[in-house]
Parts: sequence; C-alpha cells; structure tokens
Amino acid sequence: MDNTQPTAPITVAITGASGTLGQALLRCWHRRGARLIAISHSSTPLSLHAPDGSAIALQQLQWQCGQEEALLAQLSQVDVLVLNHGINRQQERSREATAASLEVNALSSWRLLEGFCELVARRSAGERAARPPSEVWINTSEAEIEPAFSPLYEISKRLLGQLLSLRSLDLAQQVRLRRLVLGPFRSALNPFGLMPVTFVAQQVMLQAGLGCNLIIVSPNPLVYVLMPLAALSRWIYNRSLTQD
Ligand SMILES: NC(=O)c1ccc[n+]([C@@H]2O[C@H](COP(=O)([O-])OP(=O)(O)OC[C@H]3O[C@@H](n4cnc5c(N)ncnc54)[C@H](OP(=O)(O)O)[C@@H]3O)[C@@H](O)[C@H]2O)c1
Repeated sequence: MDNTQPTAPITVAITGASGTLGQALLRCWHRRGARLIAISHSSTPLSLHAPDGSAIALQQLQWQCGQEEALLAQLSQVDVLVLNHGINRQQERSREATAASLEVNALSSWRLLEGFCELVARRSAGERAARPPSEVWINTSEAEIEPAFSPLYEISKRLLGQLLSLRSLDLAQQVRLRRLVLGPFRSALNPFGLMPVTFVAQQVMLQAGLGCNLIIVSPNPLVYVLMPLAALSRWIYNRSLTQD
C-alpha cells in the first residue's frame, strides 16, 4: 500500500459558523463529504439541515476572541481552517467599538492564523503525508481596497489584509493560504448586500477548486483588477523591505 497518499477525510473548521456565510460554507463542505467543525462565539447550538431535511453532522466549538490558544488546542485534527468571523460597527467610532473591531476582525484572525501554522509545522512528516494538505482561508473583504462606508470595518479589514500579505511570505511555506475578497452579500452583517450568500459560497468553493489562492467574488469588476495589483505590490514591498 502506498502510504504517502492522504487517506483521512478532510476536516474543515469554520469560525463565525452560525453567521450567514459560515452556514453557507458549512453546507458546501458537507456536500463534499468533509468532517465539519463549527466554531462559534455564541453558546447557541447550531443545527444545519441538508436539502433532503437530514441533519448535517457537525462538532461545535465555542470560543471568544482573546482565547485563541484554548481554541487552537482543539484544532489538532483540522485540515482546512476558514477564518470567517467578523463584525461591522457601521458608523461608530468610540474607543470600545475601535477595540472590538480590531480584535474581532483583525487580531484574533491573525493569532489563529499564526497558531494554526505552528500546529501544522509540529505535525510529523508521516502525519502530514497521511492527511489532506493544510489550508487557511482568510475572509478579508473587498473593504481591503474599496470603501465600505464604515471606517472601523475598513481599518480592521485592511489591517487583516496587510498582516496576511506580510506574514504569508513565511507562512505560505507551511500552509496553503487563500484570501477571500468578497463584495457585498446579504447577511446579518449587511442586510442590503447585493449578492445572495449561496452564490458567494459556491463561487468561493469553485475558485478554491480551480486552485486560486486569491478568491474574489464581487459585482464590481474593478476589484478583479485592483486586488491582484494590490497583492502584487504588497508582495514586492514587503519582500524587499523585510527579512525573516
Ligand atoms: N456581508 C457582506 O457583505 C460581506 C462582504 C465581504 C466580507 N464579509 C465578511 O464575511 C464574513 C462573514 O460575514 P457575514 O456577512 O456572514 O456576517 P454574519 O452573518 O454577521 O456572520 C458573522 C459571524 O461572525 C461571528 N461573530 C460576530 N461577533 C463575533 C465576536 N465578537 N467574536 C467572534 N465571532 C463573532 C458570529 O458567528 P458565531 O456566533 O458563530 O461566532 C457571526 O454570526 C465576515 O468576516 C465579514 O466581514 C461580509
């Protein structure tokens, strides 16, 4: 038997699991036969059903921003970690709203990214060969480069995007990193979003299946031009001015 071939089913963990996109992505991964871990900051049990009415099996983990180490200790069997949680404090600018936006939208995802890459790096060569390749998907938003009419949302998502660009110079050697740059879709966070969430989730899965690391789903054609340029210019800038 060739024991270099991955044999284990893929295990996918998604933060913000009870949110609109979180649930849509869980459904997509379920259709692909993945083992699902729903990571939620709320204690409300999440129950998802397939189109035939059957319950979708999932393990639910609860966490809070700032407690990433405790969460990471439970992710040892995860192959694909989708960092999807987020908040939009709209027109607020208070100290509390600023702190919450930075913590939830940027710093907690950055800490989970770093921690998960360390966890993967600690896996033995045999364990890595027996598992599907490890990936982290990071949901930044087209607010990285476009106005979102919400300054704290833009600042925090841009910070996350910039941190990802910088740290991917090292971390992409250990784990495949995919950046999700999504335009407005209808959800609790954005009730007036243009795109239906099922379309967005399907496009994300399609582009990932095609091998894209920069996944863009937007009604704005400019984003398809500007985001790759932004990613390239950051790569050149970060690479020429920093060292590991
Ligand atoms: N909707 C859009 O137009 C749009 C566009 C581009 C990008 N995005 C991004 O897509 C992601 C999903 O957003 P969505 O539109 O699906 O919104 P959503 O339905 O509000 O889902 C976001 C989820 O994030 C989690 N969350 C909220 N506050 C949190 C906190 N304090 N700590 C940890 N987790 C928290 C919650 O899930 P749990 O209760 O399960 O933790 C929440 O349901 C976000 O990162 C968002 O920025 C959205």
